[in-house]
Amino acid sequence: MLGRRPLPANDDGRLLIAGNWKMNKTYTQAVNLAQEISDRARREWASVADVVLIPPFTALRGVSNVIAFDRSFLRVGAQDCSPHQQGAFTGQISVDMLTDLDCAYCIVGHSERRGLLGETDADVAAKAAALEAAGVTPIVCVGEDREVYDRGATVEHVVAQVAGSLGGVDISTGGIAVAYEPIWAIGTGLVAAPDHAQRVARAIRERLASMYGDQQARRARVLYGGSVKPGNVAAFIACPDIDGALVGGASLKADDFCSIVTNACDAARA
Ligand code: 13P
Repeated sequence: MLGRRPLPANDDGRLLIAGNWKMNKTYTQAVNLAQEISDRARREWASVADVVLIPPFTALRGVSNVIAFDRSFLRVGAQDCSPHQQGAFTGQISVDMLTDLDCAYCIVGHSERRGLLGETDADVAAKAAALEAAGVTPIVCVGEDREVYDRGATVEHVVAQVAGSLGGVDISTGGIAVAYEPIWAIGTGLVAAPDHAQRVARAIRERLASMYGDQQARRARVLYGGSVKPGNVAAFIACPDIDGALVGGASLKADDFCSIVTNACDAARA
């Protein structure tokens, strides 16, 4: 158990900075954006951060081709997956289909899917388990709405989401990233105060420690997401339990996304 000993952020200290493009960019636009990011990517990022582009499914091949052609250290990830291996699931995308396109990461349980499509913690856990079985790192999204935040119940809410969204999931193959994304901060320009985000990130790590033990909890990467911009990312990275960022709107502009990665890497080195 953790006891009173402070639990350091992830073992090797590597950041994870991921750009969630959501339902933006056609195939052609996505290839162009990936190329712009690849052209601006700096070698020195690679020693500090894993940087992941997460386009819509339709652009995964195009983005992974850009990365492969440029021999870039950038990685590609997906926004969702099916919990099923194959079969009669019209419209769904299996984990095998994603690994065949070089996906190393996959977002699960984004609040837009929980809210708009009624995804439950159990649905998210089934998807995370399918990813782990293939060695893909799930980026499990959790976060409270404004009402929960105003009641001061964020930590309980988020910790329960972590427990439910990873219930029974073995994380030893793919590792794990948990993105704390307050719903009220997504796409609004509002950001969580870094000390609030740190408190939540710490509680997430403690919960992971009680589920998986200290070692796995130290390896986990806890991200902040919600209106991350070049000007605010450093304050989150400076928090001891925050190991990266899940970026939405600002990941759609190469200059902004690259500034976020650069500023995050500088903050991690500081
Ligand atoms: P914004 O950065 O646009 O607030 O989106 C955050 C998000 O939902 C990333 O998954």
